[in-house]
Amino acid sequence: MANVTVIGAQWGDEGKGKIVDWLASRADVVVRFQGGHNAGHTLVIDGKTYKLSLLPSGIVSGTLSVIGNGVVLDPWALRDEVAKVEGQGVSITDENLAVADNCPLILPLHRDLDGLRETAAGKGKIGTTGRGIGPAYEDKVGRRAIRVCDLAHLDTLEPQLDRLCAHHDALRAGFGQPPVDRAALLEELREIAPFVLKFAQPVWKRLKKVRRAGAKILFEGAQGVLLDVDHGTYPFVTSSNTVSGTAASGSGLGPNSTGYVLGIVKAYTTRVGSGPFPTELEDEVGQRLGERGHEFGTVTGRKRRVGWFDAVLVRQSCAISGVTGIALTKIDVLDGLEKVAICTGYRLNGKVYDYLPSHAADQAACEPIYEEMPGWTESTAGARSYADLPAAAIKYIQRIQELIECPVALVSTSPERDDTILMRDPFVD
Ligand code: GDP
Ligand code: IMO
Ligand code: MG
Repeated sequence: MANVTVIGAQWGDEGKGKIVDWLASRADVVVRFQGGHNAGHTLVIDGKTYKLSLLPSGIVSGTLSVIGNGVVLDPWALRDEVAKVEGQGVSITDENLAVADNCPLILPLHRDLDGLRETAAGKGKIGTTGRGIGPAYEDKVGRRAIRVCDLAHLDTLEPQLDRLCAHHDALRAGFGQPPVDRAALLEELREIAPFVLKFAQPVWKRLKKVRRAGAKILFEGAQGVLLDVDHGTYPFVTSSNTVSGTAASGSGLGPNSTGYVLGIVKAYTTRVGSGPFPTELEDEVGQRLGERGHEFGTVTGRKRRVGWFDAVLVRQSCAISGVTGIALTKIDVLDGLEKVAICTGYRLNGKVYDYLPSHAADQAACEPIYEEMPGWTESTAGARSYADLPAAAIKYIQRIQELIECPVALVSTSPERDDTILMRDPFVD
């Protein structure tokens, strides 16, 4: 298979950025196809850390990077991120970055609404990243969005802007907020337009061309399957489809182009924001994993919730997303534990479940059934061959593979790009 689609198979932050960067040297193009700057993808190359939210993780290795139509694009966030990454010595030009001209924009009014809703929800809040992601997707499907291509037609934007602002003014009034200042918004768009338009193009056409020429395409998912708006722990989800199928619709290529589906899976579980989390650990083991794994959000700096590996959830994610093989990351974080546990099922209302039920109340009431395994005292950190892993770690990986019914293609043993063990090459398999 020539192309590879990388998706998160848990609640995000599985290490997608590291793996995409590692695979990018074998690819000709990296494409983001959903989400926005709610994503935080970390790359560590020779001790230097890059944090990317909107830019595809191929940008650092110089691979052509494409922001597809499925992404919601905050143009100011893009400008800031380009400046930040350029400041780290990476050159970003219209040669190595392309932005779909049919991307909907995230505007300041979307961020406002995200914040107003979260504040009003109090304890019931989703715990969003506050980036305006949900409201921007709502306007896209509501056919009110301002898109990248509109930036080239600002002189005739008024009727569209009126429609969008009328909608938002009504919502804002409900929160006791003043209406949107249309003139100021138009002015802000005028100021940012040349920056975005420099990269804007019909990317489906570019991708068609490179595909015909035999290019290898790497699709980079954001978030994770359990945050998918259909398949995730609704309503505690993001507002896009994070599953592999979105790689096609979110980039303008057909479903026969997405190739090998590589699910990125952390060797334990984390979640940031509210919502059910059956294997959450609120004891010192959870504390220790959080510290060893540096489990703080890349985007918001929030402490991530931490728990044992949940094989039920990952098996479900792999099935829903048609995962061909997984990359198991952060195995080193488990080093030094006397024993490790894997969730193999749930107990709910006296019954045993081998899947996560759909209703939020049922999800919250699921009690994990654990299988315990011996841990390992040796270090796996920085291991670059399977043979270097301790026997107990190998057993743990093999058990995960059996339970999730999916083979392990890669194992990651540190944040560094090259501390990666290749077992099956997704570009060849
Ligand atoms: P993403 O959103 O899926 O790209 O993941 P994040 O970058 O938000 O979070 C993953 C974190 O784990 C980052 O800080 C990575 O540098 C780090 N990381 C990735 N792989 C490994 C690994 O194998 N071991 C350790 N210790 N850290 C890792
Ligand atoms: P990466 O790509 C982890 C979570 C938020 C919140 C919910 C909705 O780095 O894995 P949103 O702002 O999208 O409306 O928030 O989704 N969330 C993430 N959690 N990793 C991410 O991205 C996330 N992007 C959004 O914390 O619970
Ligand atoms: Mg992240």
